[in-house]
Amino acid sequence: MSEPYDIIISPQNVEIKVFLLEEDHVDSVHAMEVESYPDAWSRELFLPEINNRAGKFFVFFIEDSLIGYAGYWLGGEEAHITKFTVAPAHRRKGLGTFFMNYLFEQVRKEGAERIILEVREMNYPARSLYEKMGFDTIGIRIGYYARTRENAVVMARYLNEKLDQADI
Ligand SMILES: CC(C)(COP(=O)(O)OP(=O)(O)OC[C@H]1O[C@@H](n2cnc3c(N)ncnc32)[C@H](O)[C@@H]1OP(=O)(O)O)[C@@H](O)C(=O)NCCC(=O)NCCS
Repeated sequence: MSEPYDIIISPQNVEIKVFLLEEDHVDSVHAMEVESYPDAWSRELFLPEINNRAGKFFVFFIEDSLIGYAGYWLGGEEAHITKFTVAPAHRRKGLGTFFMNYLFEQVRKEGAERIILEVREMNYPARSLYEKMGFDTIGIRIGYYARTRENAVVMARYLNEKLDQADI
């Protein structure tokens, strides 16, 4: 494995190594994907994220253990989250919130002014997290998820530092 892209400290004071996705990570990322989504990406869909110049795909590790992953594509001043997952054993401990704040910071550095995502209509845990983090619903895509035909809720948040301070 190469050098970490970043090292961050979790809310529980644990060191988390952040890597950009590499071929060696793909099997464990895909295994977590299958565990986490009814419409999981195939292994092949992750491969173009390895050297994606239009975005980044982060994988988060505690020691040798994958604890989550998150990807985005950047288009102009908008960042589009493609994946956002915390390992089942690590959920409900604030890591989702922590990783989303990390994404805010990263995409801001790249000049994004808005962050946007789709979430399954019935995915209440994720919708609750996004609402708590200041995302608003801006639309519904009917039957967006091909396998389950579930609707997607489109959510967006402006990345304005003054707005963040006002939120506190
Ligand atoms: C959604 C997900 C990323 C949340 O990660 P997490 O580390 O558990 O999130 P946090 O601990 O920071 O939780 C933040 C808030 O999210 C909401 N939330 C998270 N899990 C929840 C659950 N199981 N039920 C209800 N609300 C939940 C709560 O509002 C929570 O705040 P609280 O703990 O104060 O009640 C995680 O459940 C996951 O990876 N799910 C599978 C993949 C997925 O659906 N990703 C989203 C794709 S759009």
